[in-house]
Amino acid sequence: MSHDATERAGAAPALTITDVAPRDGLQNQAVAISTDAKVELIRLLARAGVRSVEATSFVSPKAVPQMADASDVVQRVSRQHPALRLSTLVPNLKGLERAHAAGAAEIAVVLSATETMNQRNINMGLAAATAVSEQTLLRAAELGLRTRAYVAVAFECPFEGVVNADTVLDLACRMLEAGAGEIVIADTIGAAAPAAVKARMSMLAQAIAPDMLAVHLHDTRGLGVANAWAALEAGVRRFDASVGGIGGCPFAPGAAGNLATEDLVLMAEQCGLTTGISLDELLDAVEFAESLLGRQLGGRSSAWLRRRRERQRAAA
Ligand code: COA
Ligand code: ZN
Repeated sequence: MSHDATERAGAAPALTITDVAPRDGLQNQAVAISTDAKVELIRLLARAGVRSVEATSFVSPKAVPQMADASDVVQRVSRQHPALRLSTLVPNLKGLERAHAAGAAEIAVVLSATETMNQRNINMGLAAATAVSEQTLLRAAELGLRTRAYVAVAFECPFEGVVNADTVLDLACRMLEAGAGEIVIADTIGAAAPAAVKARMSMLAQAIAPDMLAVHLHDTRGLGVANAWAALEAGVRRFDASVGGIGGCPFAPGAAGNLATEDLVLMAEQCGLTTGISLDELLDAVEFAESLLGRQLGGRSSAWLRRRRERQRAAA
C-alpha cells in the first residue's frame, strides 16, 4: 500500500487522468470478472501512479451483470487505497443510495445529450434523465459526496447523429447548477475528430473552469490521441482513459475501446506534461487485464512500449 504513488510526495501532475477501465472497460466483457480480479486491477493502477479511478457502477444488475459486485469493490478498494480518488457511476437515486451505503466518496451521474441514447441506456427520455441527474447530484451534495456529471454522446449519437454544441453546453450548465463538481464531456462512440473536439471543448472552457472540465474519449477510429491533443489545446487538463484501451458502452452500438491510458500518458510525457503515472508499471496492469480477458490488449503505443521495456531490461 505504501508503494501507491497516491502517497508519494511531489508536485501535482499537469494532467489528471481518471482510469475508467474497471467500469467502462469491464462492464461489457463477455467473460465474468471476479471481484478479486477487479480489486487487483485497481491495485496495479494505483501502484503505477494512477490517482483517480472509476471503480464500478451502481446500476441494475439485470442491465449490466458484470457490475453486480459494486458494493464489494468499493468497500475493498477504499480500505486498501484510502488516498486513491475512487469514483462510481450511478444512474439514479437508488444507485446513489447503494454507493453511499458502500462508503463511496464520489459518484458520477450519466446524462446523454439525446432522447434516444437516454432511452437505450437508462430507460428514460432526455427530460426525465436531466431531472433524475439533477436530483441525484443534489442528494449527493447533501450526503457530502464529490460529484461528476457525464454528458454522454456529446459529439455524435449512434441513433440521432451529430449532436448540437448548444445542447451539450445547456446540459453541462444544468449539471453545474445542480452542483456537479466536474463535467465530463464524453465521445461515447469515438466518432469525434480533432477539429470538433477543439471547437467544442474551447466553447465549453469559456463556461466551465479548467479544474471542473474533463473529456472522455474513445478510440474507435484511431483518433483518440489526436482528439486528446485537441482537448489539451482547448485548455482541458482532466482526462478519462482506460488501461489497455478496453471499454465501450453496451447500449451504444459501435462504441469500441476507450482512449488507452498508456497512449495518453506517452503523448503527455513526450510533450513535457507530467501525469504521475509510470508507463512500465502501467504495462503490468495491461498484462494483468490481458490475463483476465484472454486476449491481447493495449493502445496504439503498447507494442513499442513493450519493446522499449525489453531493451531496458536487457541493458540493465
Ligand atoms: N441499482 C440496482 N438496481 C436498480 C437500480 C440501481 N441503480 N435502479 C433501479 N434498480 C432496480 C429496481 O429496484 C427494480 O428492481 P425490481 O425489478 O427488483 O423491482 C428494477 O431495477 C427496475 O427499476 P426501474 O426504476 O423501473 O428501472 P428501469 O428498468 O427503468 O432501468 C436503470 C433503469 C437505470 C436502472 C437501468 O436502465 C440501468 O441500470 N442501466 C444501466 C446503464 C449503464 O450502466 N450503462 C453503461 C454506462 S453509461
Ligand atoms: Zn465511455
